Formats: sequence, C-alpha cells, structure tokens
Amino acid sequence: MLRNRELLIKLFVYTNYLMITTNHKGPAHAPLLQTVLFRAFSRSEPALEGLTRRYVERKLKEEENGVGRGLRPLICSAVERLNEQKKWQYTRRHCAEVGVYSYIIASEAKRWGVPGAEELDPKLCLIGGILHDIGKTFLPLALVIKERGVETFFGKVFEGRQMTGVERRIMRYEHLHAGIRYVKLFGTGQRFNVLLDMVGLHHVMYDGQHSLVPSYPSRFNGRDLPLHVRIAKTADFLSAVCPRHYRRDQWIVSLHDAIAYAVTVAGRELDPICVSSFLTGVHNRTLTDVMEMLPHFKHPGGRMGISDQDLLCRYLLELKQDPEFLELVKSRDQARFWQYQKRADVYARSVGFPTIVGSLPLSINNKYAQA
Ligand SMILES: [Fe+2]
Ligand SMILES: [Fe+2]
Repeated sequence: MLRNRELLIKLFVYTNYLMITTNHKGPAHAPLLQTVLFRAFSRSEPALEGLTRRYVERKLKEEENGVGRGLRPLICSAVERLNEQKKWQYTRRHCAEVGVYSYIIASEAKRWGVPGAEELDPKLCLIGGILHDIGKTFLPLALVIKERGVETFFGKVFEGRQMTGVERRIMRYEHLHAGIRYVKLFGTGQRFNVLLDMVGLHHVMYDGQHSLVPSYPSRFNGRDLPLHVRIAKTADFLSAVCPRHYRRDQWIVSLHDAIAYAVTVAGRELDPICVSSFLTGVHNRTLTDVMEMLPHFKHPGGRMGISDQDLLCRYLLELKQDPEFLELVKSRDQARFWQYQKRADVYARSVGFPTIVGSLPLSINNKYAQA
C-alpha cells in the first residue's frame, strides 16, 4: 500500500512537471493539463509544494542510508550527485564556477585585510560555493531545467518556458531546504556551519530588500550576515547572470556585462566589498583603486545599488560606455585569473572533487567573454 502511494506521488510529481515543461501540445494545453492533474489529486496549488517536499524528503532518506560523517564523505557524495549521468551538468558547471569565484573573493578579501576575513578559509569557501546549489539535485529535473530548455545533439528540443508562481516558490525554497538537510547529514561544527550558511543563505540580498528579485529567506539582511555568506551571494550572482546558466537577461552577454551589473547593484543586492574583491581578483588593480572607483560608478542621482528595472538598464548601458569602467574591466589579467583557478583546482582535487578546470563554463573564458 505504502509502495503504491509513493509510486503515485512520484508519478504525480514527474508527470506534472514533465507535462508543463515539455508542453508538446502547445502553450494553451499546459495549464489545462496542469489543472486536470491538480484536480485529480488535490484542489489547491500548495498541494504541489507538499508533494514536492515529500519527494525531496524521500530522496534525502535514500541518501541518508550509509553516509559517513565528515567533510570528505560530504564531498564524495556531492560529487557523485553532481556527476550523475550528466543529469545535472548545468548545475554542476554553475556550482564549479561559484566555487572558484568564492575562492577568488575570499582570497582577495583576506589579502586586503577586509574586516571579517581574518577567520575566513578560502578553501572552505570553494567547497561552500560548489555545494551552494546541491539542493537542486534533490528536485525533479524537469523543474530545474524548465526555464533553460533542453538541448540535444540534434538541436533544441524544448525552448524553455517561464515557471509558474508556485514552481518558482518551490524552486526557491526547496533547493535551500534540501541543501541544508543534506549537508547536515554529514556532520556539525564550525566548518559545517560555514557550509550551511553558504548553502542556506546565498540568496539573501545585501540590504535584505529593495531588490528586483526577492531576498530569501526574507528575515535576513545580508549586511548583518558573515562575510562568507556575502561572498556566496556575490559569486552566485556573477555566475547566474552570465549566459549558459539559468537566467537569460538579454543584456548580459559577457563577464564584463555581469561585472557592470554587479557594480550597478552593489550596495543593494551585493556587498560592495565583495564586488571590489572580485574585481581585484580578476583585474590588475589594487583594492584602493577599485574602492576609489566604485563610488564614481554610483548613479548620478546618488543611488548606490539600483532596484528599478528601467533605471538599471539605462544606467547599465551608460556604465558600459564609461571610459573609466571600460578601462577597469579591460585590464583583466588572464594570468592572475588562471593562477586562482589553478590553485582552486589543485585544492579541489586534493579533497576529492574531480578536476574543475575542464568543467568550468567559465563565463570568463566563453565566447561571450571575448566580445
Ligand atoms: Fe541557489
Ligand atoms: Fe546558484
């Protein structure tokens, strides 16, 4: 009986996501199919949240069997999950990128003596960055790839569709919930707390509100949180806004654009000191140079960090034509970046992650970055 129920839940979650995702009969049919399925099992949308939660719980239970305690078993298990039959290749690449970006920001923050960086371990930040979205591997695949679409050797078989409100909510909260529960399976202590912070709080905005996208969990303000959380947020932002991942903002076609975007929202979404540290990490500049330049990039209206979409687009365009900004981003020091990436890779391999240099999408190296 129990087996049948579990099977039914699995069938429901998969069928529902697959139908609304693949949408083979045209957009008009998807909501209808979704409605029929909802009606068949429940009368309200929150039921989907409940069912997905149970699906995640079941996956976590499967994982719980036979896991060891400690950082190494956690890394081995996470690598196994991310490598699973290429199923999570986009998540894997994004996670690897966030890991390296976190490593760069943490190393730079330490180098410059940024307050709060004394206790920081860049290597742990690398692991935290790689693990930050591990919770997504516990969600139905169709949901994770819904907006991105599906590409095959023969071309694009599914263009991708916008998530519904309830799907977005599930995606946002469940990947954090699953990630935290997963990391907790492997141990406790100071190092685990750093990882848990990075996994559970990497969507908290620096000022906690006034952002284009919601800050969640909403009860926090990034500025009150430890540096490693603000690092995870910044690294995640820089990777997520670039092409080939989840978001597809039309105006972001290179890492330079992503940096311009980060500069535009520094002070509101992102910690300016983390943005500065990233800039010094991939550009041949000192922290003082960048810190002196950042206020110059403040919107002429005096707003630091812009939350209004139209204003943001306008300012972003202006910023991209600013000679001082162009000089800043064009002075990218590839050798410096490789140095960080190599160090991160050596450490990742020494703790059991497979080589990440080859797996990095690296917005910084992709074709758009050269544009
Ligand atoms: Fe996330
Ligand atoms: Fe992410």
